[in-house]
Amino acid sequence: MKVAVFPGSFDPVTTGHMDLIKRGAGMFDKLVLGVLVNPGKTPFFSLEERVEMLAWLTKDLANVSVKSFEGLLVEFLEQEQASVIVRGLRTAQDFEYELPLAQANMKLNQNADTVFLATAPEYSYISSSGVKEIYRFGGNIKEMVPDLVYKRFYARSEERGGTYAG
Ligand code: PNS
Repeated sequence: MKVAVFPGSFDPVTTGHMDLIKRGAGMFDKLVLGVLVNPGKTPFFSLEERVEMLAWLTKDLANVSVKSFEGLLVEFLEQEQASVIVRGLRTAQDFEYELPLAQANMKLNQNADTVFLATAPEYSYISSSGVKEIYRFGGNIKEMVPDLVYKRFYARSEERGGTYAG
């Protein structure tokens, strides 16, 4: 059985991530979404919210599961009995960032192979950090995130009594 892990912060999960998840799920027997616990960073959405949103968004994909992980990715791989890491590549800049990560993971665990999926062109401009910035400045993020995530952003601005363009 070929098990792959798609790790990320998913803060928030974007439409680009969703496309990669669906494509990755079709390539492996099991795809585990590993949501990073990063103690050094305050996320926009809590770990619980990110896991819950991903679980809901992937509920119809039978071979996809969602878990959180802390520490080294290769240890999470071992825990999940996975040998493949799935990551998306939007640009050459992504490649420059991702290649040494993939190689470091390989050094730490020689069985850890990273598979890069080319981001579909319609999603290549989307990033979680860009989405948060556009949201903060009142821009429309509707096409960049799944509806559920959009609603959560919207609910957040209602809570804060702010207006929201979108
Ligand atoms: O969505 P992101 O924030 O780009 O994902 C980054 C992620 C989670 C893939 C990366 O930060 C990671 O693997 N962190 C776990 C720590 C680790 O294993 N580091 C060693 C590789 S150099």
